[in-house]
Amino acid sequence: MSVQLIVGAQWGDEGKGQIVDRLSENAEVVVRYQGGANAGHTVYVNGEKFILHLLPSGILHREVLCVIGNGLVFDPAAFFEELGFLKENNISVDGRLKISDRVHIIFPYHKKLDQARESKAGGNKIGTTGRGIGPAYVDKFNRNGIRLAEMLDDYSLKQRLEQNLDLANRILVDDYHEPPLSFVSVFEESKKFADRLKPFAADTAIILNDAWKSEKNILLEGAQGALLDIDFGTYPFVTSSNPTCGGAVTGTGLPASAIEDVLGVMKAYCTRVGGGPFPSEEENETGERLREAGQEYGATTGRPRRCGWFDVVSARYSARINGLNAIALTKLDVLDSFEKIKICTSYTTADGELTEFPANLRVLQDCKPNYIEVDGWQTEISTCRSFGDLPEKAQKYVGMLEELSGVPVRYISVGVEREQTIQK
Ligand code: GDP
Ligand code: IMO
Ligand code: MG
Repeated sequence: MSVQLIVGAQWGDEGKGQIVDRLSENAEVVVRYQGGANAGHTVYVNGEKFILHLLPSGILHREVLCVIGNGLVFDPAAFFEELGFLKENNISVDGRLKISDRVHIIFPYHKKLDQARESKAGGNKIGTTGRGIGPAYVDKFNRNGIRLAEMLDDYSLKQRLEQNLDLANRILVDDYHEPPLSFVSVFEESKKFADRLKPFAADTAIILNDAWKSEKNILLEGAQGALLDIDFGTYPFVTSSNPTCGGAVTGTGLPASAIEDVLGVMKAYCTRVGGGPFPSEEENETGERLREAGQEYGATTGRPRRCGWFDVVSARYSARINGLNAIALTKLDVLDSFEKIKICTSYTTADGELTEFPANLRVLQDCKPNYIEVDGWQTEISTCRSFGDLPEKAQKYVGMLEELSGVPVRYISVGVEREQTIQK
């Protein structure tokens, strides 16, 4: 398989980082294509925990070339913090990490604007990660963003930054009653970052197209998930990029025809962090049990994740808009202790039963989930190393998810270590 896309197929935090790490064993290039340091991708290697925010999860494999594609919004401060963390762990990135010179830069005012907007939004709060993602993508689409290419050019950086900071300060001061940022300090800090970023900058679309033509194994790593997609997610409770398959094309410069396989990562249940509708949410003891068993706390913000049952309606939707060839089903072990497990198969709305994921947020917010209930296996499965090792009831649950979502399950994970991801 030369170009494989790994996408989050729910509301993020499905375990993409872990799956990408496992597949990186046979990859030569791993690429992030959208989002920014809002992502938190957790990978365990021999008991040691790594949380990656900007770097592709392939970075822990020392031979892999890692690429930060043009589709991201890139925070230099977060980047250098992450590099420092890897260095402390003796992981060298020398010569094997490239950043697109077309990537858009997140400046301190983007983060301030994001946080100020959220703190003043009251009931309209999205629950963002506060990493400046929305404001940076707004600048990109408003055509006044600053890309790495401009950042590396003193003249362009000064000129653009002056204009942008002036505008940002006006909003911060007038609308949010926040103190303005100093041009000199933002500019000086940015110049220092620019000097340090120079060795990493490249036209990564050339590198990726060359790698594709020479049939190298390339993994495209999504951040967030389909239901947080700016076009297909539960708008406006979404992120500001396209985690779905289109984002992998516009965010890398690889042609659509290069993508040979799309793997959707899904948890064996559902979680969501931040605001927005979540039909199969269990806001009760069951939700708490899932949270504790799955240690569902955000890798980026530490917030408790909302938990609920697997939702077939959204899984089928996600499969369709991404063209999923297969599912990597994670965290099956989290369901070990449950006597009964529910699967949401449709929603009841004021206008009847829905089996397709609706665009209207009010419908989604007010709908009632309909469930089928299956018996749990009530056995620890973390030591299972093949599909056949799983208890019959766990096999049956996996089979039902395949049948109901219409997509075969290719991988199942039963724990956080590398050997706990089973190929079905
Ligand atoms: P990502 O953002 O999609 O990469 O996912 P996160 O890293 O934010 O969240 C997934 C969490 O689940 C991480 O803490 C993983 O270590 C953990 N995890 C992944 N797979 C499994 C699994 O099979 N079993 C258990 N118990 N935990 C898992
Ligand atoms: P990974 O890659 C889960 C959510 C935020 C908020 C909304 C918008 O780890 O799966 P943003 O900061 O992007 O403007 O926030 O999106 N969100 C995520 N939820 N996993 C993520 O990333 C997320 N990145 C953003 O909680 O609801
Ligand atoms: Mg995460």
